[in-house]
Amino acid sequence: DDPRIQAVKNLVELVEDFPKPGILFKNLFPVLRNPAVFNGLIQVLSEDIKARCSGVEVIVGLDSRGFLFGPGVALQLGVAFVPVRKKGKLPGETISVEYSLEYGKDSCEIQKNSIRPGQKVVIIDDLLATGGTMKAACDLMEAAKAEVLACVVVIELNELNGKDKLKYPVISYLS
Ligand code: PRP
Ligand code: MG
Repeated sequence: DDPRIQAVKNLVELVEDFPKPGILFKNLFPVLRNPAVFNGLIQVLSEDIKARCSGVEVIVGLDSRGFLFGPGVALQLGVAFVPVRKKGKLPGETISVEYSLEYGKDSCEIQKNSIRPGQKVVIIDDLLATGGTMKAACDLMEAAKAEVLACVVVIELNELNGKDKLKYPVISYLS
């Protein structure tokens, strides 16, 4: 009901049959073309995380569309931003986890020194679909011994039940 979220909803572009037949793609990029609406979204995410994720120390953003929203929230909260990247993009020692895609497997990783054991983290991505990507990020956080306070997404596709894969609270705004 927040008018800032309604404004986001009004700008989401619905694209049928992309990237594959039968998929209704929800494009958030028009939001980034409107600085007032984009700022409103970052403010709402930041306010909710501040209220519901007490003591958060790190915002973790997921490659690549989680990078659109995570850094703005981290700046707003005055905490660190750490990227989870797809395999092979980060230098030095990394921690990796594999996850299943519709066909085959992929993996994602963090730099080993980017999160300290016990740190309180909130994971941000643009969208929760099957939950495979977010689950992999949660597994990475567990491997790093971080404490996951919540998984935050702008859009949650409720019909895919991605939430069922996750053992942490999910905060979402649109479906
Ligand atoms: C999309 C989206 C989420 C993920 C959700 O990312 O940005 O990260 O899929 O799907 P899931 O819940 O079924 O895992 P994509 O892998 O298309 O890559 P991108 O963010 O780099 O565009
Ligand atoms: Mg993504």
